[in-house]
Amino acid sequence: MCGIVGYIGARDAFPILINGLKRLEYRGYDSSGIALSNGTTRIFKKQGKIANLEKHVAGEKLDGNIGIAHTRWATHGEPSDSNAHPHQSQNGKITLVHNGIIENYAQIKERLIEKGYEFKSETDTEVLANLVEYVYLQMETPCLEEAVRIALNKVVGAYGLIVMSDDEPKRLVASRKGSPLVIGVGDHEYFIGSDATPLIEYTNQMIYLQDYNIAIIERNSFTLKTIDNNPVTPKIKEVDLDVDQLDKGGYDHFMLKEIYEQPTTIEQSFKGRISADGKSIKLGGLMDVMSDLIKAPRIIILGCGTSWHAGLVAEYLIEEYCKIPVEVEYASEFRYRNPVINKGDVIIAVSQSGETADTLAAIKKAKEDGAIILGVCNVVGSSIPRETHAGVYTHAGVEIGVASTKAFTAQVTVLTLMALQIAKEKGTIEQAEYENLIKELIEVPNKVRIALSKEDKIRSVADKYSEAINALYLGRGYLFPVALEGALKLKEISYIHAEGYAAGEMKHGPIALVDDNLPVIAVAPKDHYYEKVVSNIQEVKARKGNVIAILNEDDHNLKQMVNDYIEVPNCHVAISPLINVIPLQLLAYHIALNKGCDVDQPRNLAKSVTVE
Ligand code: AGP
Repeated sequence: MCGIVGYIGARDAFPILINGLKRLEYRGYDSSGIALSNGTTRIFKKQGKIANLEKHVAGEKLDGNIGIAHTRWATHGEPSDSNAHPHQSQNGKITLVHNGIIENYAQIKERLIEKGYEFKSETDTEVLANLVEYVYLQMETPCLEEAVRIALNKVVGAYGLIVMSDDEPKRLVASRKGSPLVIGVGDHEYFIGSDATPLIEYTNQMIYLQDYNIAIIERNSFTLKTIDNNPVTPKIKEVDLDVDQLDKGGYDHFMLKEIYEQPTTIEQSFKGRISADGKSIKLGGLMDVMSDLIKAPRIIILGCGTSWHAGLVAEYLIEEYCKIPVEVEYASEFRYRNPVINKGDVIIAVSQSGETADTLAAIKKAKEDGAIILGVCNVVGSSIPRETHAGVYTHAGVEIGVASTKAFTAQVTVLTLMALQIAKEKGTIEQAEYENLIKELIEVPNKVRIALSKEDKIRSVADKYSEAINALYLGRGYLFPVALEGALKLKEISYIHAEGYAAGEMKHGPIALVDDNLPVIAVAPKDHYYEKVVSNIQEVKARKGNVIAILNEDDHNLKQMVNDYIEVPNCHVAISPLINVIPLQLLAYHIALNKGCDVDQPRNLAKSVTVE
């Protein structure tokens, strides 16, 4: 959940590091810091956003061709100057930045205190810095790489880290286990990052470290090993990432930009995967496992947050069209209970970042139990795809806004393609219906454009309800997950408590919440659940509830019944999540703006939850 950047080469490190931190700020932003070396290491760190750090270093001497930097999402110790990274060892010679959690840090800290170490912070990272120093000072022939390897063999937990030492000022040592780390290869220079975004403006040649890798990096040499000292041949990948994707493109916020990118990103998710004649789907990433998929006795979909909601949409699609039983599980629950995995079970891991710790751990467990693991991820080369047997990338492009929007619709698009292809291969869908759904999918980008064109109306509805304390989102069938997603969007960026509920469940409790202070957002397009949802709306209205309906343009009857409405184009029910989620994204965005919230970097959140 934190962002790490490192540089070693001929250039001044500071500009590379501070810009890199800004590229990674979406990963965590409660404090940040930089260490620079021109032979001796100087550290600058500050609580708050990176802008605070920039103010803090103004006027300071910032020379040095080697450096490391970090933007934090607190796990151990509150956000503060002292808990910010980089952390130094007691003698001030070992400096490191770390993303992850050292689970046995307390035991290590206790032993180090017994040996006379004192600590300035509450972090697990400072423990790691002192452990490296302790090991280093015990060595007959002190060697930073060796000290780091020995120290890492003593820790339990997850790490992505970079270490520098005043005693070996011309090298960086980097390692990872469970937290991502990418090394950009330049011309006699190397760039290190938690992902490729802070590196891509300098190089597109990337080495994705694997778990237990350790890299020893000097200006003119690069050595890769395992932490057991076995040599590893570095694999350099050419990364296709457009720097333009990394700025707001004229929008006020990344989230708004990404909401408006959806017609394009949905198209990118199915482009090249639907035949030119629109009569078939071909997902190359599934061809090797298709025979397993069509005979799967069960499919378990794992994810967190928005990705879990996309999995819920897939449950309706797969059960309806593939006739395969589906269970959708929170990865954080699945990994700790003793799930029954039967031979032939298929797991689909859904993850935008491909780095969510709970999802990664859950699929590792299922893999050990013999399941076939598929991935639906957005970030190419991330950890989850590397753990799967097969999968399909969503091609949504970099998603910077912490609140996921285009990734969700890209995930649902890919899952729809998967369900239709499996159904076709299995013979559980008629060709005519198959082609009709493909046609409906192809029409989605234009229908999303129509939904986006209602932003002015959505803004006026947001203006009416921005003072709400609570909100209730209702949906049925394919749109029940959309109600959950709409509620998540509102709560995570506006901090208004919002609940998504199956509309049919409302009378089993939540209806007690209904009064004239509670906005109830009902997702009610004309599908086969429509009449039922209208009944639920009437139940709310009868109790003075304020109903905001997401409805079809020609639904004049419902428009008369509700307090406010937002129009969406008609579409097939199986495709409706892609269209009906759009107004809910914009509603949350505008309510959050009205409340002065930080839309792109909401409090307490981070883009990628790479710790438990
Ligand atoms: C969604 O808006 C949130 N940012 C969060 O729930 C997110 O979907 C969740 O953490 C899963 O992330 P992933 O898709 O990268 O695995």
